[in-house]
Amino acid sequence: MTNNNIPVITVDGPSGTGKGSLCGRLAETLGFHLLDSGSLYRVLAYVVSKEKISIEDIASIVEQAGKLDLSFEKKGELVSILLSGEDVSAQIRTEESGNKASKIAIIPDVRAALFERQKAFQMSPGLIADGRDMGTVVFPKADLKIYLTASAEQRAKRRHKQLKDKGNDVTVAQLLNDIAERDQRDSQRQVAPLKPAADAIVIDTTNLGIEEVEAQVRALIEERGLSS
Ligand code: DC
Repeated sequence: MTNNNIPVITVDGPSGTGKGSLCGRLAETLGFHLLDSGSLYRVLAYVVSKEKISIEDIASIVEQAGKLDLSFEKKGELVSILLSGEDVSAQIRTEESGNKASKIAIIPDVRAALFERQKAFQMSPGLIADGRDMGTVVFPKADLKIYLTASAEQRAKRRHKQLKDKGNDVTVAQLLNDIAERDQRDSQRQVAPLKPAADAIVIDTTNLGIEEVEAQVRALIEERGLSS
């Protein structure tokens, strides 16, 4: 149990494993708060582009990380992200934002600047935390740690479907390339690299539908008495 007795369930893993869908469903059914930590890195990437800050200008990126004016609005399973009151949810969901987010997430001072903001999401009655380092760094004492994996091919196919539904015509081959590059960067970085916590339960979602993944995690939640 975490130090203030508010339960935390962490879900880490690379993109395209179904983390976002799983976390949205769990937060909704349990009535817990939801932290989509990737959205913080994505918003920062969006600000960096908007302010025309060079990716090499670490001091300015860190400064922006420290003063992000963010708020979140829950809409069913989804959470809208507002930057200075403006809904930027659609703008930050592009491949470009994800890739740029991964590049700025390497900077240790950026991670430090966003750390407390993430901790603050731990509010009653509980938290579902979605990311790369939720179980290893941000909530090391979480009550349940899940790590989702899936083959790169399956993840590219899922991402392709999501983007096609939004009218984007990127190819599976291009996505496979992006995924390999991002995995490499996220898992090789010095600070808080993508990896399962020692006490995480790893679920391979390559051949599982979201309902099956959710059922497995729900069983673990019941087993640990976290759903009351
Ligand atoms: O989960 P996502 O695709 O929205 O995350 C975008 C990038 O942000 C990801 O490639 C790496 C970074 N990230 C991170 O470093 N740590 C997290 N806890 C979440 C995301």
